[in-house]
Amino acid sequence: MKKNKISKNWIKKQKKDIFVRKSKLEGYRSRAVYKLIEINEKFNLIKNGASILDLGGAPGSWSQYILNNYKNIRLLTIDLKEIESINKAYQLKADFTEIETKNKIKGYFGGKIDILLSDMAENTTGNKNLDVISTTELFKEAIYFSKEILKKKGSFISKIFMGSTFKEIMTLSKEIYEETRVFKPISSRKDSKENFIICRFLR
Ligand SMILES: C[S@@+](CC[C@H](N)C(=O)[O-])C[C@H]1O[C@@H](n2cnc3c(N)ncnc32)[C@H](O)[C@@H]1O
Repeated sequence: MKKNKISKNWIKKQKKDIFVRKSKLEGYRSRAVYKLIEINEKFNLIKNGASILDLGGAPGSWSQYILNNYKNIRLLTIDLKEIESINKAYQLKADFTEIETKNKIKGYFGGKIDILLSDMAENTTGNKNLDVISTTELFKEAIYFSKEILKKKGSFISKIFMGSTFKEIMTLSKEIYEETRVFKPISSRKDSKENFIICRFLR
């Protein structure tokens, strides 16, 4: 499909999408917020006073939700793109996969944290298998880092794409965590391979 046909279809979809309209009404920067809300309501993850790393956080709706609804949160949001400032969140424009970024994260928190969220994804290419592979690479970077930064009872939540790497994702998650669940929020588009993995309690 040609690029401008893809973007016309995307604009059409956005206009019809109830979650896009809802996010505008509620002042959120992206419809992605409803995925985190659903995950959080189902798994009861975020608590007042938590320290949280939000990877792939631009434009910032997950961070907005956390800061709007919880008190005394220590939050670091990272993205390749600039994130417009959010009250009380520390933002870093950086590539998470670089060692320097990981060192900055450790320096910022200065200890172990409660929750690592990753909604990281590259722009989809139209080639579903390639998209699965690139999202899995980001998932792997995040889960390996979660071993270094999370408290033993911490939670790791990451976007994954269903496809050829699913078995590898599950094996790795079960090796690292005692509890592993896969969840597709209603607000995640039905025609997308997107799902989320919720892992708790480091082994
Ligand atoms: C679906 S968006 C995230 C939406 C966000 N959760 C929100 O609520 O607004 C995915 C983001 O992952 C970011 N991303 C992809 N690769 C990354 C990397 N290596 N390091 C940091 N961010 C990355 C992209 O720039 C993009 O902004």
